[in-house]
Amino acid sequence: MNNVIEPIRSVELGTAGPLVGVQGFGAMGISAAYGPTDAAAARATLDATVEAGVTLIDTADMYGVGANEEFLAPFVAAHRDEITLATKFGIEYRADDPNYRAIRNDRAYIRKAVEASLRRLQVEVIDLYYMHRRDPAIPLSESVGAMAELVREGKVRHLGLSEVTGAELREAHDVHPIAAVQTEWSLFSRDVERHVVGVAAELGVAFVPYSPLGRGFLTGTFTDAGKDLSNSDFRQLLPRFTGDNAEANAALLAPLHKIAADRGATTAQIALAWVQQRAQVHGLAVVPIPGTRKRSRLLENAAVTRITLTTEELALLEPIASRVAGDRYADMSLTSAAREG
Ligand SMILES: NC(=O)c1ccc[n+]([C@@H]2O[C@H](COP(=O)([O-])OP(=O)(O)OC[C@H]3O[C@@H](n4cnc5c(N)ncnc54)[C@H](OP(=O)(O)O)[C@@H]3O)[C@@H](O)[C@H]2O)c1
Repeated sequence: MNNVIEPIRSVELGTAGPLVGVQGFGAMGISAAYGPTDAAAARATLDATVEAGVTLIDTADMYGVGANEEFLAPFVAAHRDEITLATKFGIEYRADDPNYRAIRNDRAYIRKAVEASLRRLQVEVIDLYYMHRRDPAIPLSESVGAMAELVREGKVRHLGLSEVTGAELREAHDVHPIAAVQTEWSLFSRDVERHVVGVAAELGVAFVPYSPLGRGFLTGTFTDAGKDLSNSDFRQLLPRFTGDNAEANAALLAPLHKIAADRGATTAQIALAWVQQRAQVHGLAVVPIPGTRKRSRLLENAAVTRITLTTEELALLEPIASRVAGDRYADMSLTSAAREG
């Protein structure tokens, strides 16, 4: 491999937001959610982000019940001024009770959650603080109002929302400018294109597509989570990745494999290139955050920002999402799609 890495270009994250590499890094999988990890390899991958210009680093307080933020802390300390650090609150887990889970958007909880994230990340300020999931029982004026207090107090620089509807984004943006919305968006998951993407484009809010590789399925490297992944891998619980659904969905990857082979690219690269280009259709700034534990894949994914798919290639990929078997979560009730109707 060529040892000289050419950094990717940068983009502003929302109106007056920070300048970040046009592809970010989803850190969840490096120490949580997707089975046992090799910590040394994960750390080498993290170090490559900055070299490649991948500067938006994404975590959440719930990943590993705080452990993912702690895992990131040494990397953050070494690169504090080079990265934009994003974390999230709103899904409460308790280390001493594996069955406990609550969605919390109330002011008292937010104030407690930010202190815990600051402590685990060992920073004085979080660059981008997201509400991870919406509890419709709490008015947005309270939740976003509490988040705005954190900006005024210097604990947080910019605000973000995850899995919100277009109407919720509009309402929140009236309380305090929102820099970014983060929701699943990929060749397999396009429900965001119905409403929230248009609202984000209109308001000048950046979009951060999460799981842009369809949690790995779009790379073609596993075809059935039930058979190919470890028992502790969260994807075993996702309807589209197991059994008959997985078999049907693997067949949908044929056009991706063909385009990749024709171009001498990888299937993962074609999936990521599609997200970047689809956002252009909507007039939207996007910073997808693929996750990987492998340095070579981090560089492979970053290289995508230089691929432009042709009209013919885009047409081949267009029908895929409407044919996907199975939802993106076993319980869709917390997604924006459920509230958009
Ligand atoms: N806001 C939310 O509710 C939410 C929900 C889910 C995720 N997220 C965020 O989004 C980030 C990314 O999502 P994700 O990790 O779920 O899914 P993803 O980025 O779509 O896919 C990650 C998977 O793809 C594999 N992979 C990555 N690059 C590859 C390549 N070039 N070739 C082959 N395989 C490749 C990784 O395996 P290896 O590690 O083995 O390479 C990993 O299993 C997370 O880390 C998290 O920060 C947010």
